[in-house]
Amino acid sequence: MTIFTASYALIYSLLLTIATLSCKLLAISIILILTNWLAHNITEIATCLKNLVLYFISHFVPGHLDFKKLPYGKWCIVTGATQGIGKAYAEAFAKRGMNILIISRSEDKLKSQSQELAKKYKVDATYLPMDFSKSPSTYVSRLRILLNEKRADGTTIAESIGVLVNNVGALPYAYDTLVNDIARRQKENPLETYGDRMQKNLNTNCLSQMVMTSEIITLMRNKPIPVGNTSGKKGIIISLSSYTCKRPMPFWVAYTACKAFNFYFSDALATEISFTTNDLIVQTVAPMEVATSMAPREKGGWRAPSAEKFVEVCINLIGWSKYTHGWPIHDLRALFNDCVGGGHFAIYIVLFDRYKRITAGRLRKQQIQLREMREKVVKHTKSALSRVSSMEGVKRTVTRVASSDMVKRVVTRVASRQGSGNPEARDYTE
Ligand SMILES: NC(=O)c1ccc[n+]([C@@H]2O[C@H](COP(=O)([O-])OP(=O)(O)OC[C@H]3O[C@@H](n4cnc5c(N)ncnc54)[C@H](OP(=O)(O)O)[C@@H]3O)[C@@H](O)[C@H]2O)c1
Repeated sequence: MTIFTASYALIYSLLLTIATLSCKLLAISIILILTNWLAHNITEIATCLKNLVLYFISHFVPGHLDFKKLPYGKWCIVTGATQGIGKAYAEAFAKRGMNILIISRSEDKLKSQSQELAKKYKVDATYLPMDFSKSPSTYVSRLRILLNEKRADGTTIAESIGVLVNNVGALPYAYDTLVNDIARRQKENPLETYGDRMQKNLNTNCLSQMVMTSEIITLMRNKPIPVGNTSGKKGIIISLSSYTCKRPMPFWVAYTACKAFNFYFSDALATEISFTTNDLIVQTVAPMEVATSMAPREKGGWRAPSAEKFVEVCINLIGWSKYTHGWPIHDLRALFNDCVGGGHFAIYIVLFDRYKRITAGRLRKQQIQLREMREKVVKHTKSALSRVSSMEGVKRTVTRVASSDMVKRVVTRVASRQGSGNPEARDYTE
């Protein structure tokens, strides 16, 4: 129930009380409203309190999941791992002694990063350049080949996968309306339909998680339980969503829709597994702002942590929180937004304001570009005109000089000297 509904109900009960002139009724109404509010928000309040307690405990009792003993398998696979949160996950699991397979598009970055991880943490690290925006048929076979290749120790990755981090994600656009985005893309590339473009975004943000999970989940389950595993769990699947998964955001329409998919997919999978085999840990990570290239205004601090700090907190919560915002401040903000009706309204106002400012900025930029173009055109036209007129001037001068009496006299004299074989005349003509 929002604060607005509560206010309406309060006003209504006040009117009712005045009408009946009964103070008792007012008291009963207020109690009813408060009970109703508590009943509606009890889950959010309880989740937030639980998360805060867990942050506290996991901070002081880190490592309740001892990855050093590799109880879930030797390998960790991270998608979207060349920067930001994915890169931090790869490093965090390598630090815990796991072998790492990193996946992204940029081969150069992947290569240097895997070499760095192998050298720094003395683990086996490899990479696979893959573009998740394309159809799965373009990358799944390459993934399967790599998973079944023999490594230096004679084993394969497929035999011992412990962790999968479904991190890859992309922002189709932000702080803009869908209508503006359609128009802009049309201008950028008239040959590509908006649907084709959005298909790539859906592939990257949504299909990637389904495909990777479906490729890895059976391998994780079919492996023998690693030595030292007392938990009965055979692996961990971590999927990145976003706080926006539960709070549809205007001006981020396409992104929040994808993140809602991520949440529903991962959360439902977690429940399904806990009801059936109960042999895997599934965690949904739904951050607010983390200081990465996706949130370029954030510098890393209490409001928006760095990717490294954020990932450490999330890893400490594996097995304890199946859904986490990954940062205590984000939990408190989520509680405020979800329980106080005005909270999400405030977000919409902030987003609308940012949209207006960014759109105004874009317009200003366009105007500046137009002005610069106009100035360039005017400058070029002027110089071309002056060149034409100076050419005309040169032509006129040449004609005037050529037709002048003096030149005619000189030409005649030279011609006559040439005829007489005078050497002075040769110099003259040269
Ligand atoms: N940062 C935040 O504030 C925030 C908030 C909420 C949720 N999230 C979620 O957290 C996840 C990671 O975000 P981030 O901030 O770390 O993003 P990021 O810094 O932009 O990194 C994205 C990573 O994905 C890779 N990638 C992008 N498109 C790809 C594609 N088509 N195929 C393969 N790899 C691709 C990029 O590498 P290449 O360019 O080399 O391919 C890069 O390594 C995303 O799912 C995002 O939605 C982030």
